[in-house]
Amino acid sequence: PRLFALVPAAGIGERAGAAGPKQYVDIGGLPMLAHTLAALAAVPRIAQTLVVLSPADDRFEAALPGCTAWVARVGGASRAESVLGGLAELRRRGATDDDWVLVHDAARCLLRPEWVDALIDACEHDDVGGLLAQPVADTLKAGDADSRVSATVDRRDKWAAQTPQMFRLGRVERALQAMGAAATDEASAVEALGLRPRLVRASMENFKVTWPEDFTLANRLLAARR
Ligand code: C5P
Repeated sequence: PRLFALVPAAGIGERAGAAGPKQYVDIGGLPMLAHTLAALAAVPRIAQTLVVLSPADDRFEAALPGCTAWVARVGGASRAESVLGGLAELRRRGATDDDWVLVHDAARCLLRPEWVDALIDACEHDDVGGLLAQPVADTLKAGDADSRVSATVDRRDKWAAQTPQMFRLGRVERALQAMGAAATDEASAVEALGLRPRLVRASMENFKVTWPEDFTLANRLLAARR
């Protein structure tokens, strides 16, 4: 089987408070999406990467000139729909049920190739597949609409799910079709089939740029890596 990467980049970045979609916000001189794609391109075992854009996206070619990834403007109203559109596009380009797909959020632009390698090493001989994740360090609270604590959640067995998430194309497609737009990641859809994806520890640096202050943090981390 071959390995493909699929990058959903069709969100509007509502929570980020940026002027345009957050995947094009400048981080260290390049759009966020360029950093994400560079990390995936540095993993030789990945045969090709497909970027899923919104049908209305008119910025990609100017923002990422010379990008060698495949591009499909098949994004949907939810992340799950964007991923399903991307999986169908991978099939059109020759991918089959048994091929592996690593779905990775465009917004996790601090990805390091070695974490992707660790995920592939852990999952390529696994029946189910798995995801990068980080054990939760904070004490977890459930809160109500008035921002009052309604419960403290036992953190001991909790992990924060990240991406990439690596599953066989046929299985993850069936799983997402069954769960619909409610799936906020691929693993939750695969779990709903009764399967137990493998958790592969990565790093807190693999966070999803989501809130306005995350851009500052991403800039500092990238500067420190140079
Ligand atoms: O909204 P969320 O933080 O879950 O988005 C995670 C990733 O999914 C982002 O990279 C975003 O661009 C992408 N996304 C998408 N299509 C949507 C919503 C989000 O491709 N409709």
